[in-house]
Amino acid sequence: MSNYHIKNLEEYFQVYRRSVRNPENFWEEIAEEHFLWRKRWNKVLNWDFTKPEVKWFEGAELNITENCIDRHLVTRGNKTAILFEPNNPDEEAQHITYKELYDRVNKFANVLKAKGIKKGDRVCIYLPMIPELAISLLACARIGAIHSVVFAGFSSNALATRINDSECKMVITSDGSYRGNKTIDLKGIVDEALEDCTTIESVLVVKRIDSEITMKNGRDEWIQPLLDKAPDHCEAEIMKAEDPLFILYTSGSTGKPKGMLHTTAGYMVYTAYTFKNVFQYRENDVYWCTADIGWITGHSYIVYGPLANGATTVMFEGVPSYPDYGRFWEIVEKHKVNQFYTAPTAIRALAKEGLGHVESHDLSSLKILGTVGEPINEEAWHWYDDNIGKRQSPIVDTWWQTETGGIMITPIPFSTPTKPTYATLPFPGIQPALMDAEGNEIKGNQVEGRLCIKFPWPSMARTIWGNHQRYKETYFSTFENKYFTGDGALRDEVGYYRITGRVDDVIIVSGHNLGTAPIEDAINEHPAVAESAIVGFPHDIKGNALYGYVILKDTGESRRHENVRKEINQIITEQVGPIAKLDKIQFTKGLPKTRSGKIMRRILRKIASNDLSNLGDTSTLLNPEVVQGIIDEAL
Ligand code: PRX
Repeated sequence: MSNYHIKNLEEYFQVYRRSVRNPENFWEEIAEEHFLWRKRWNKVLNWDFTKPEVKWFEGAELNITENCIDRHLVTRGNKTAILFEPNNPDEEAQHITYKELYDRVNKFANVLKAKGIKKGDRVCIYLPMIPELAISLLACARIGAIHSVVFAGFSSNALATRINDSECKMVITSDGSYRGNKTIDLKGIVDEALEDCTTIESVLVVKRIDSEITMKNGRDEWIQPLLDKAPDHCEAEIMKAEDPLFILYTSGSTGKPKGMLHTTAGYMVYTAYTFKNVFQYRENDVYWCTADIGWITGHSYIVYGPLANGATTVMFEGVPSYPDYGRFWEIVEKHKVNQFYTAPTAIRALAKEGLGHVESHDLSSLKILGTVGEPINEEAWHWYDDNIGKRQSPIVDTWWQTETGGIMITPIPFSTPTKPTYATLPFPGIQPALMDAEGNEIKGNQVEGRLCIKFPWPSMARTIWGNHQRYKETYFSTFENKYFTGDGALRDEVGYYRITGRVDDVIIVSGHNLGTAPIEDAINEHPAVAESAIVGFPHDIKGNALYGYVILKDTGESRRHENVRKEINQIITEQVGPIAKLDKIQFTKGLPKTRSGKIMRRILRKIASNDLSNLGDTSTLLNPEVVQGIIDEAL
């Protein structure tokens, strides 16, 4: 019997030891007992990190939607699968049962088929947090099409880049979206993006805000009439274990976004097993993750992980501040939420608003609280623990990445004693290592280093779409025979891990990964800009905010600096999206560079954070004289 559901610390250690001593046996038992397979595997794991190549459950056949929907119909047909809470609290919540989800996914899948979408085709989904977002993911998975969800806060330019990179054939979008008291013209953004895309054959549009939009003849169609006449049943496509399930883009420190490719069987097994244990989900619980499905957290822990366990998963369309800062707590009370999973940036923003909004709601249904996306600071951790969990609900600080597919380091609630700011212990099957700069593993406790993973786990991304070489270079070349996460971490005296943050040029702003390169590229498009560099600096709510150093061209023309600042942020909004806007812009005459011409961001980061105590050795710079100038002009 596999310990699918871990219930105490002793059991955790026992399960963990087994998972490390005999990983194949361990994962095989879980896969065997808890999922529906059309055909069994011949081999549990095949791997070689030097290529890198990783294959789980080779030879097996399945369809993930049969695991997430069909198999629940007999016992859970009338149970709510998706509980949709609209942006406007006066609009009624929708309880979509497993039976209804089955019907809607099957019809949607038939529409995709009728539009010519086949196994292996890429479908871009650009939708707000409405039920059709989850349904369209599942509809793609039903027919073996590869979904590529693009967060609906990204600009047309970012959308076009992602569509082109994976050569999508179709876009699924909506007329618009609600965001608090605003609406956003999503279809307009799609139209603009498609001016630069050649592979899109059709656009399906969900009606959400009932706005006037233009429909391009022969390309665009409302989806509802197509759904109305689609057949009720769509036979699930039989997928091989390693057939692609989805692509999800994440920012890199350089160049264009990386399309992380996730495959079917391993992803399903790992997200389901982690969901069950990290959230200790029980049959009648209501689980709510506040992330957007446009990010990996939503893929794994709003859609696939919960549904594979037959859970009730809440989908919230709105924002935490609308109609007021009590909205999250109002929803917890209204739907009697048992597990609540959010990001540190949301916790900090809500804490700032005081306790009035918290105290006016009954939060007694809560059993487990979760956090993800960036390091949680001690103050926010205690605020969450004291005021939301009332010191009764353990906080699971879950560390993982788009690339890892599922939660990697986390407490198991009621088993692992928590410690503020610590993600604590590796999940069963996960073998972390801390590395020094020379590439040696640092053994023992009370040490700090770069965080790697030494052994494959089922839900790891298998490649970067269209660029396996980049996958190898980014993740498997820094440290021999290990997956490098890009994060720094320390291990305390009992072996608990604390993630200290990125060690590369990725900056996490309000929980969103932003690479420096695409933002700098956008800034440099401004006609008055000669060169730029951006770094992160600490921010009370966002965790990090962006600080831009900009060198203006010497054009003789006296442009007003304020105008240039505004225009730079406008370009960034258009090219990358509003989340990448700069909080501070410093005009400067030079940027510190190494002799090979690389910008020394370490120094710029210190100046932006007003931490001038230890600037390190500047003598190796090509132009050490610029540093004092930058300090003198700093904002
Ligand atoms: O730096 C780590 C941080 O977020 C990065 C991954 O970002 P993304 O791929 O967007 O996925 C976010 C949701 C899984 C990591 O490399 N990060 C994520 N969770 C934590 C974290 N940092 C500290 N503590 C966490 N719990």
